[in-house]
Parts: sequence; structure tokens; C-alpha cells
Amino acid sequence: MPFYQKINVDDKTAIFVWKITEEFNELFRAVSLKDISLARLEGMKSESHQKGFMAVRMLLQHNGYSDFDLYYDEFGKPNLKDGVNISISHSFDFSVIILSDKNSGIDLELRRNLIQKIAYKFAEEKFVYECENNSAEFVSKLTVIWGVKEAIFKVRNEIGISFKDHIFVQPFEMNDSKTTALLDFNSVKKEFLVYFTEIENYTLVWLWESE
Ligand SMILES: CC(C)(COP(=O)(O)OP(=O)(O)OC[C@H]1O[C@@H](n2cnc3c(N)ncnc32)[C@H](O)[C@@H]1OP(=O)(O)O)[C@@H](O)C(=O)NCCC(=O)NCCS
Repeated sequence: MPFYQKINVDDKTAIFVWKITEEFNELFRAVSLKDISLARLEGMKSESHQKGFMAVRMLLQHNGYSDFDLYYDEFGKPNLKDGVNISISHSFDFSVIILSDKNSGIDLELRRNLIQKIAYKFAEEKFVYECENNSAEFVSKLTVIWGVKEAIFKVRNEIGISFKDHIFVQPFEMNDSKTTALLDFNSVKKEFLVYFTEIENYTLVWLWESE
């Protein structure tokens, strides 16, 4: 049952990482699920997704919560009954949650060369042009940018946000481990503080709105 890592972000914010090495049955025996979650689990097409879903429940249980404390709004945003903010991500071998007093977003992505092919769909043109000449960091940076946009979407939970047209990531170097991003949507501008790190061949991004 590998709880993998806790990242202490600040006094009231922490990230919890689960590395999924268990078989389906081992996870299934270890989590208690309410009926609606059981139905969701049964409806999932891949075992990888099912295990990611259950590993999130393992992380909840690790923190004294259970699936019974978690509910979703109509758009799929997760909430905890006690009001602590939660954001969730899973990608193949890992599941992560962030627990915080702030409305935070988290995203975990496997770094894949394929991302270069779809960069034009979500990344700023200036960035794509500059990075094409430095392919070593291209995949790493693109994966951060993708993660930022997914995580902002999770914080704002608003229909109609376009990754390319409404979210702009401030240029950064991988060594910085942080940057900022701007959401410019529906005449409202919001700045986000962004942090990132790499775990094995995955990229982890977390963020929240700046004060
Ligand atoms: C919802 C979305 C952000 C999920 O991201 P993902 O990379 O597919 O998957 P992740 O594993 O990182 O995150 C999944 C978790 O996000 C959370 N989530 C889903 N919808 C959410 C929402 N509206 N708000 C906040 N969190 C949400 C859920 O907790 C979900 O996991 P769970 O259902 O097992 O609890 C993504 O699918 C999405 O819809 N993005 C916006 C659409 C878009 O613009 N896409 C790209 C255009 S180029």
C-alpha cells in the first residue's frame, strides 16, 4: 500500500501522492465506497482509471476522510463536507490530492513526446516558437503549461474557458519551480500563483488565485 509522498506547501496546504502498485482487488478491499461511487467505478472503461479513483480514496483515508466525506458538484468539482478545499488528479501510476484552506487546483500528467504535436492547440504561439528551438526542455515545459491550464480550469470550474484563448502562463525556466498565470475570461482577469515539480516521469502542478 504505497503512500508515496507528502509535500508540505504551507501551514494549511499539503499535497498527498499515492503510487499505484496494487492490484485492483487489493485496493477494492481497502476502500469503503458509497453506492454512487461504486456505480461510477463499475462504469469506468479502464482498470487504470478504476485504480486511480480508488487510490484517491486511499489518500482520503490516509487523511482521516473517506469516500463518504466527498461529494461532487454538477460539473464534477470535488468538495469535502468539512469545507476543506480539495482538488484531485490521477494519471496512470499515480493519484494526487491537494488539501488546503485555499481554493486550489492540482494536475498530474505523464510527460509524453506526443504533447509537442498538440502544443498549438493549448500553448501560446510565442512559447511554441521559442521552445521549438530547444527541444530538450520542450516536453517538460509544455507539460507544465498543460497542467497549469487544467488546474486553473479545476479552480474556476467555469464552462467555456479555452486553454489557448483565455489562460496565459508567464514564461518560466524548469529550475524556477514556480511561475504565474493569468485567466482572462468573461471580462474578468485573475492571476494565479503556480508551483510545479517532477515526480519520476510525471509533472505535478498546483496553484491558487493570488490575493
Ligand atoms: C475536468 C478536467 C480538468 C479533468 O482533468 P484530466 O486531466 O482529464 O483528469 P485529472 O485526473 O487530472 O482530473 C480528474 C479530476 O478532476 C476533478 N474534476 C472534474 N471536473 C472538475 C471540475 N469541473 N472542476 C474541478 N475539478 C474537476 C475530479 O475530481 C476528477 O477526478 P474524479 O472524478 O476521479 O474525482 C478535464 O477533463 C477538462 O474537462 N478540462 C477542460 C476542458 C478543456 O478545455 N480541455 C482542453 C482543451 S485544449
